[in-house]
Amino acid sequence: MRHVWPPGGPAGELDRTALADLYTHPAPADRPFVRVNFVASADGAVSVDGRSTGLAAPGDRTVFGVLRELADVIVAGSGTVRAENYRGARTSAPARARRRARGQAAVPPVAVVTAAPRLDPGAALFTDTAVPPLVVTTTGAAPEARRRYGAVAEVLDAGDLSPAAVLDALAARGCRRVLCEGGPALVGSFAGAGLVDELCLSLAPQLVGSGPGRILAGPELPVPLPLHLVSALAHDDGLLLRYAVRPFE
Ligand SMILES: NC(=O)c1ccc[n+]([C@@H]2O[C@H](COP(=O)([O-])OP(=O)(O)OC[C@H]3O[C@@H](n4cnc5c(N)ncnc54)[C@H](OP(=O)(O)O)[C@@H]3O)[C@@H](O)[C@H]2O)c1
Repeated sequence: MRHVWPPGGPAGELDRTALADLYTHPAPADRPFVRVNFVASADGAVSVDGRSTGLAAPGDRTVFGVLRELADVIVAGSGTVRAENYRGARTSAPARARRRARGQAAVPPVAVVTAAPRLDPGAALFTDTAVPPLVVTTTGAAPEARRRYGAVAEVLDAGDLSPAAVLDALAARGCRRVLCEGGPALVGSFAGAGLVDELCLSLAPQLVGSGPGRILAGPELPVPLPLHLVSALAHDDGLLLRYAVRPFE
C-alpha cells in the first residue's frame, strides 16, 4: 500500500481517523513489532538546542499522537526522557474507547530503558501520568530501581538490557506493539540488533546546520539497511514518511 499526497494535498488539519487507518501495522504473533518514530530537519538534525521541540514538522504532532494511540507501550531511552522532560501519555476519552475496542489498555504506559536508574522519582514521567510508567532495567539494577521507583512505577527486569531482552521483558508484560520514540542511542542499538520493523520519520522543512546528531547513534551498521516506502504524506511544507524495514505482506 502506498499513499503519496502531493504538496498542498491534505489541507488544514490532518484527519486522525484516516491517519490511524494508514498507520495500522501488522502484528506478528511470535514477536513484538517495533515501530520507531522521529522528527528530523531536512539536513538530518535530530534536535535544536538539545531538544526535538525546535523541529517544526507540520502534522508531526498529529502523527505522534496517532502512533501513541496505536501502541501498547511507548519506549524511550533515559537520555530522551531527561532531555524532553517526558510525562505520561495524554489520551482522550474517545481514544481510550478505541483502544479498549482493540483489546488494548486504555492508556499506553511510557517505558524508560535505563541501566543506571538515576532519574528523579519526582520527575514528570512518574508524577504527571495517568498510568504508572515502566522502568526497564538490568537484573543487577532492578533491586535499586524497585527501591527508588517502587511506589511510582513498575520495574521490569530485562536481564542484560540488550534490545532482544528489552523486547522480551515488554512482551512478557503484554506489550507487543512497541512504539520507540528514541533517542538515537537506544534506536541505534535496536537497529544494530536487527530489531527495528518500521521507521516513521517527520521531515521538518528546516536547515539546522552541523552540531546535533542524527536519528541513529552508536556503532555504524555493518551495511546500510534498505528501507521500503509504505506511505509519504506531504503536509504544508513538511513530509510525513513511513518506511518498513521488511516489505509488509
Ligand atoms: N527528533 C526526535 O524525534 C528525537 C526523539 C528522541 C530524542 N531526541 C533527542 O535525542 C537526544 C537524546 O538521545 P540520546 O541518544 O542521548 O539518548 P537515548 O537514546 O534516549 O538514551 C540513551 C540512554 O539510554 C540508556 N540505555 C539503556 N539501554 C540502552 C541500550 N540498549 N542502548 C542505548 N542506550 C541504552 C543509557 O543510559 P543509562 O545510563 O540510563 O543506562 C543511554 O545513555 C536529545 O537531544 C533528544 O532531544 C530527538
